Amino acid sequence: MYDFSARNVVVTGAAQGIGRAIAAGFLANGANCVVMLDYNGDKVAETAKELDPEGSKTLPVPCDVSDQAAVHETFSMLYEKLGHIDVLVNNAGINRDRMFHKMTIEQMREVLNVNFFGVVHCCMEVITQMRDQEFGRIINISSTAQHGNVGQTNYAASKGAINGFTRSLAKESTRKGITVNAVEPGYIDTDMLRTIPEDKLAARLAALPPQRFGRPEELAATVLFLASDEASWVNGSILIASGASITV
Ligand SMILES: NC(=O)c1ccc[n+]([C@@H]2O[C@H](COP(=O)([O-])OP(=O)(O)OC[C@H]3O[C@@H](n4cnc5c(N)ncnc54)[C@H](O)[C@@H]3O)[C@@H](O)[C@H]2O)c1
Repeated sequence: MYDFSARNVVVTGAAQGIGRAIAAGFLANGANCVVMLDYNGDKVAETAKELDPEGSKTLPVPCDVSDQAAVHETFSMLYEKLGHIDVLVNNAGINRDRMFHKMTIEQMREVLNVNFFGVVHCCMEVITQMRDQEFGRIINISSTAQHGNVGQTNYAASKGAINGFTRSLAKESTRKGITVNAVEPGYIDTDMLRTIPEDKLAARLAALPPQRFGRPEELAATVLFLASDEASWVNGSILIASGASITV
C-alpha cells in the first residue's frame, strides 16, 4: 500500500501490543529497516524473530526510553549502523492508575518520565539529522485519556503534554520537510487494557459506542498513513482513532 523501501524506521515499545503491530505494518510495506526498541530486551528480540525470521529487516534493541543517556547511546549506534533515520514512532508507554489523593509523586514522575520524557529524548536524537536531510516523520502515540479519566491524572497529563509538544515541534519543523503528528487511540485490545480490573473493563466496554475494543492493527494503519510520503500536508495534527468513542 505504501512504499517505505528507502526508510529506516524506529518504533519504541515494539515488543508487544500496538508497537508490535506498527513494526509489522512497516515490514509489510517494505521498510528498509525497522528498529524495534523496547525496555524488555528478551521480548523484543523474540517478537522481531517472529515478524522477521531471517533477521534481515529488523533490529531489536533493548532500551529504556526514560533514560536519556541510554537513548543517546542507542541512537549513536543506530546512526553508525544505518546512516539515517527517517521515521520515528514514539509508542512506548506505561500506566500506573490510582486516584490522585492516593497517588505518590513517584507514580506521577514515573509515568511522565516514560510517556512524555521518553518522547522528548527520542525526538532530541533525530531532529537535527531530520532537519539536515530535510525529511522526517515523527508520530507520537497519545491517548484519548488526555481528555480526562478517573484514576489517570498522571497518564492523562503525560498524554496531554505529548499533544502540546507535537503541535509545537510540527510548527518548528514544517519548513524542513518534517511532519510531527500524534495519534490518540481509544481502547485497544492489548495487555495495557488488562491492567484494568475485569468488572470495570466490562462496564467501560458496555458504555462504548462501537461496543468493541480496537485492534492493534487498526491503530497501526493510522500510523502508517502518517508516516507515508502521501501524508506530507498532515502536520501538527492529533488524530483520534477511537471508533467514535471520543469525538471532538
Ligand atoms: N491499549 C490501549 O487501549 C491504549 C489506548 C491509548 C493509548 N495507548 C498507548 O499506546 C502505546 C502502546 O500501548 P499498548 O497498549 O501496546 O501497551 P503494552 O503495555 O501492551 O506495550 C507497551 C510496550 O512498551 C514497552 N515499554 C514500557 N516502558 C518502556 C520504556 N521505559 N522504554 C522502552 N519501552 C518501554 C513495554 O515493554 C511494552 O512492550 C502506549 O503509549 C499507550 O499509552 C494504548
